Amino acid sequence: MRRALLVALPLLAGCATAAIQDRSVSAVDRAPRVLQRVPLPAGARAVGVVAQEGGEGIIELADGHFLRVDVRGEVQPIDGAPALPRAEWTTSGGLRAEYGGRWFALEAPPGNELGVAPEGLRSIAQVVPLTFRGAKDAKGARDAWIRIGTSVVRVHLEGGADAPKVTWMDPAPGASVGAVQSIARIDEGRGAMASDRGLTLVSEGTIRTYRDAGIPGPLGGGGGWAWVGWNGQILRTDGETWESLAKDVVLGQGARLAVDGGTGTFALVLDGAGGVWRIQADGALFLSGLANGAAVFDTKLELEASPAERDALERVSFALDGKDVASRTAPPWGWGTDGVRPADLASIGFGTHRIDVRARFGDGRERTRTLRFDYRSPIGRIPTYDADIAPLYDAKCGSCHTAGVGRGVARDLSSYERLSGQAAAVRRAVRQGRMPPDLRLDPVSTSLFTAWIDGRTPR
Ligand code: HEC
Repeated sequence: MRRALLVALPLLAGCATAAIQDRSVSAVDRAPRVLQRVPLPAGARAVGVVAQEGGEGIIELADGHFLRVDVRGEVQPIDGAPALPRAEWTTSGGLRAEYGGRWFALEAPPGNELGVAPEGLRSIAQVVPLTFRGAKDAKGARDAWIRIGTSVVRVHLEGGADAPKVTWMDPAPGASVGAVQSIARIDEGRGAMASDRGLTLVSEGTIRTYRDAGIPGPLGGGGGWAWVGWNGQILRTDGETWESLAKDVVLGQGARLAVDGGTGTFALVLDGAGGVWRIQADGALFLSGLANGAAVFDTKLELEASPAERDALERVSFALDGKDVASRTAPPWGWGTDGVRPADLASIGFGTHRIDVRARFGDGRERTRTLRFDYRSPIGRIPTYDADIAPLYDAKCGSCHTAGVGRGVARDLSSYERLSGQAAAVRRAVRQGRMPPDLRLDPVSTSLFTAWIDGRTPR
């Protein structure tokens, strides 16, 4: 059916005849470097996980809030919406794709051809939004992979943000991968699909389906690896070898998996019982404190490199915006940890900054990891005392910190001069969660104080 279609449809270009292979899973047991249960605050229920670059992840809670998990597995609330991956395809009213920051409606080539109508057209309305998301090549072109019926079609968008050229491709004529539940990007050219037939790895010339008992569950990928929950295990494959990283995991409907897209070494797993696990397959140079592209409201950061070969590591150095700021020749390999001067970024301005971490190993190898972050105020400009801070002070601090008012039990900070005169103490007290003493200041208010003080306390 597919082959006939190719002849009838010149638009379906670039159809390499993929070799289709069947394998069975044989995984080696592998003790991960970290297998850790992430503690959730009392009463919090996790409904999703998002892993980000740099070994940090995000947990989505049922109440709509998000928690950030740092490289040590500690959680902190985060404000604002995190950089959740955008759905690039929807099925409402057909297919839509995001390209160059705009959405386009995609139509199947005219004349019923695509899936051999009428079934084909019917199934296009049921297209599963599948994509090896985000991979843009040098020309900014991007591919999406969608399922139509039981076939997988690749759609390539290229050129012109106003009207991209769309090419429909059939990477595997005749391949039937079953009812696909989820899809993940492994790297630029490869992806994985979990279906009732097993786990299918798709690359340019090869489609390989691995079979095992049961249906593979949550799926994630990145850095050359696909991770999948299957038969109570968390497995990882690079397309050749399989590793079993955790056993006796409760999977099922609610289970989710998110993989660090850059390295493929780190994942967050939400199991079917609501537990969140952090798994780090092997050592990697991670930084605590920030994640790629993350908005950083707190300019006092602790960065810690956690290298694989601790003993063989000779030196770790940190550069901020191209300037060397710290280096360590002995553990802890941190900038700002265990007595090393904190990574005090208070002098940086709002905007995008870069931290390069360079590790040199005993055998002469070097590894560098670059992280970019935006330091920005939660309100998009430096807060001012009159407009932003005074009302906040009245609402959150004034009842105790105003002489002769209410409780008035503490030092008077109720004027611009008094509050800005104690800026450093205010920043510390607020950031450390000590003030106000009776309740936890919400993250936006905390960042407003920080941004005001870092922005040199403008009136
Ligand atoms: C429930 C009462 C109460 C509230 C509300 C409160 N404080 Fe305090 N605060 C105190 C007391 C009591 C002290 C200890 C006495 C002192 O040092 O002034 C204190 C001390 C401080 C100090 C100096 C000592 C330290 O811990 O660094 C700062 C700065 C401060 N508070 C800032 C704030 C800010 C900013 C807010 C609002 C976000 C706030 N406080 C809200 C009661 C309060």
